[in-house]
Amino acid sequence: MKNTVNTLLQQKKEGKKITMLTCYDYSTAKLMEEAGVNTILVGDSLGNTILGYEDTIQVTMEDMIHHCAAVSRGIHDIFLVCDMPFMSYQTSVYDAVVNAGRLMKEGHANMVKLEGGVEVAPQIEAIVKASIPVCAHIGLTPQSINAFGGFKVQGKTEAAAKKLIADAQAVQAAGATMVVLEGVPAKLAAKITEMLDIPTIGIGAGAECDGQVLVYQDMLGMFTDYVPKFVRQFSSVGEIMKNAFKDYIESVQNGSFPAEEHTYKIDDDIIEKLY
Ligand code: KIV
Repeated sequence: MKNTVNTLLQQKKEGKKITMLTCYDYSTAKLMEEAGVNTILVGDSLGNTILGYEDTIQVTMEDMIHHCAAVSRGIHDIFLVCDMPFMSYQTSVYDAVVNAGRLMKEGHANMVKLEGGVEVAPQIEAIVKASIPVCAHIGLTPQSINAFGGFKVQGKTEAAAKKLIADAQAVQAAGATMVVLEGVPAKLAAKITEMLDIPTIGIGAGAECDGQVLVYQDMLGMFTDYVPKFVRQFSSVGEIMKNAFKDYIESVQNGSFPAEEHTYKIDDDIIEKLY
């Protein structure tokens, strides 16, 4: 069944958890579709996982469009969300609408995601008015890493928790259809989830959110530069890949690959005529 904004809202109403994973390429997207994932996020985490940057600050609109379009070609039923990169929406409401439009037209996204609460409500309102669905992202917002002074759990004091609730209410009032809660204490995320009509998607925000998202290289055990506390490694694909690479090296070096079945034939007559 095709996942749309309506099916996601319906899942919240029915208490049926939404599954979201990050994805950045065609062949992985196809596997996610075959597995039955609801929603793909082409996250600006591609700066870390694909491009090898230390953070998401350097990621460009061109990076996001390139990867989102690739993912879109691998899926049919999955709902596709694309991140707005750093400085593609903070600068003005006009920039936010123009860049959200590019992610839809050139990246073939179904929804855009942007980081921030009260302070980006005008951008969310304007993007929604342009008929582009928005997913907000509050709590530990990686594009604000320099302002936070590191990756820190958000909302732990009374004032910070109240600010997070105000952010959640502001993005919903501005017209967001979904909100990612990242790095938020589980009980606070549960409270926000209960208060909102729109689905919450948690990452490091406990089990009471309406859905969950993980970076796919983290959950497959492919990205081990840093493994956050909230990650469960559902597989050791990194080890499987490394063993396959080692097997390939050995097979090439000992001449067992390519074997007879991997080679193309030519008549001996033709070969003999060449000398
Ligand atoms: O960029 C990303 O992958 C994200 C998720 C971690 C929510 O924003």
